Amino acid sequence: MKFQRGEELRPYNTLALHARAAALITVVDDAQLMAALNWARERKLAVVPLGDGSNIVLTGDLNALVVRQKTRGIKVLETTANHINLRVAAGESWHDLVRWTLQQGYYGLENLALIPGTVGAAPIQNIGAYGVELQSALLRVHSRLIADGREMTLDKTACEFAYRDSVFKHRLRDQLVITAVDLQLSLYPTTNVTYPALAQFFQEHAVVEPTPQSVFDAVVSIRRSKLPDPSSEPNAGSFFKNPLLPAEAAKKLAAKYPALPGYPQADGTVKVSAAWMIDYCGWKGFRRNDLGVHPQHALVLVNYGSASGAQCISLANEIVATVYDSFGVHLEIEPRLYGTSI
Ligand code: EPU
Repeated sequence: MKFQRGEELRPYNTLALHARAAALITVVDDAQLMAALNWARERKLAVVPLGDGSNIVLTGDLNALVVRQKTRGIKVLETTANHINLRVAAGESWHDLVRWTLQQGYYGLENLALIPGTVGAAPIQNIGAYGVELQSALLRVHSRLIADGREMTLDKTACEFAYRDSVFKHRLRDQLVITAVDLQLSLYPTTNVTYPALAQFFQEHAVVEPTPQSVFDAVVSIRRSKLPDPSSEPNAGSFFKNPLLPAEAAKKLAAKYPALPGYPQADGTVKVSAAWMIDYCGWKGFRRNDLGVHPQHALVLVNYGSASGAQCISLANEIVATVYDSFGVHLEIEPRLYGTSI
């Protein structure tokens, strides 16, 4: 195992931001993870687990051991009449997993195709897209505690999932490294095509009875058409969450802005479109030096060269302020901020 001191993190975050880690290590199995946690503990260094770095903003150097997980493997835990339960190692690529499950005839993840990142990162923000969230397939999360290396397993309830949220962003933040995720998938084809953009896609393509494969293909096609590929246009996906408003506030806003998309939630709140509000304020396609708001999607900030994390946050704050001025709605930044300079 090689601990790389003072390592440049630009290759390890999809916004391609410059920052250094006190040390960086790549682990491929549990024994290496334990050794890495011990190494950091002996040096009283914090530990920052990293997947593909697709949902983080580095605002400065990290006085921490950054642990890149490259653990691999998918294991069948159990098969019942209707379902299959799988254990997937944290280092697996999320999109490769989605593609593989579909090929095997295990259904349920199609709407989550092409989401960047690793399996281990997926529970943290309860990844979601096109009407489906990770929590619909998740059984439990396996982890090791950073403090003493002990194993901890959380069932779905303990993960406290919500829209783009989980216990891993709150009480258990910085406490553990997710090592594997157990999922339950259907052995029978099921589809969820309620999301407006998806329903519209099938209407336009005259697909009457979508299959899981056609949902997968549609999601890939929609995402490719409007979300920039981080390898050519460095970004961290949606930079803001869609705000959840109390029903009464959403109703008032809809009366004033009838075109603002709003999605009523099970708990009575309404999720309104941050992209639409940012777009309305004129930010789409905005460019300042090497930083911009993507011309096809107002939720995505793009680093066109050597923009810094601090510049990303400063532009994000300007966007938040104009949206607040126009709509009275406070937008929250979605990716996790790491670093010391802000
Ligand atoms: N819209 C605009 N202007 C834009 C972009 C979108 O007005 O520049 C409008 C669209 O016309 C549509 C509405 O906003 O009516 C919603 O747009 P979209 O379907 O693209 O979804 P979103 O709410 O902007 C969320 C997720 C995405 C996910 C899509 C699809 C969040 C923060 N983002 O975006 O997630 O792919 O739904 O489910 O919830 C990500 O997190 O990185 C991400 C891409």
